[in-house]
Amino acid sequence: MPDYQFAADATEIPENGMKLVEVDEQLVLILKVDGQYYCIDDVCTHDGGTLCNGQLDGHAIACPRHGATFDIRNGAALKMPATQPTGVHEIKLDDGQLLVRLNQQ
Ligand code: FES
Repeated sequence: MPDYQFAADATEIPENGMKLVEVDEQLVLILKVDGQYYCIDDVCTHDGGTLCNGQLDGHAIACPRHGATFDIRNGAALKMPATQPTGVHEIKLDDGQLLVRLNQQ
């Protein structure tokens, strides 16, 4: 299992906002909702759209292409046209730094 790697400073992620970062040559989204951090793939499983410009509503992020929605806590597809979850990764806060451990998929 890969180690945690530096992804961003916590101050870079606004509350109810997100930032696209690269971890180990993989683009992932870091999001912050209600003071908690989450990390998901920047990939909509409907047709490969990117989620980084999507609308965040609570714990749901909507793909800007056709409106599929995912739960940022577990990647679950909440709304068609997506039916498969997007990837989620472990994230932790350590002394002001956000560290991500990529899940192998
Ligand atoms: S690519 Fe995301 S909804 Fe179609």
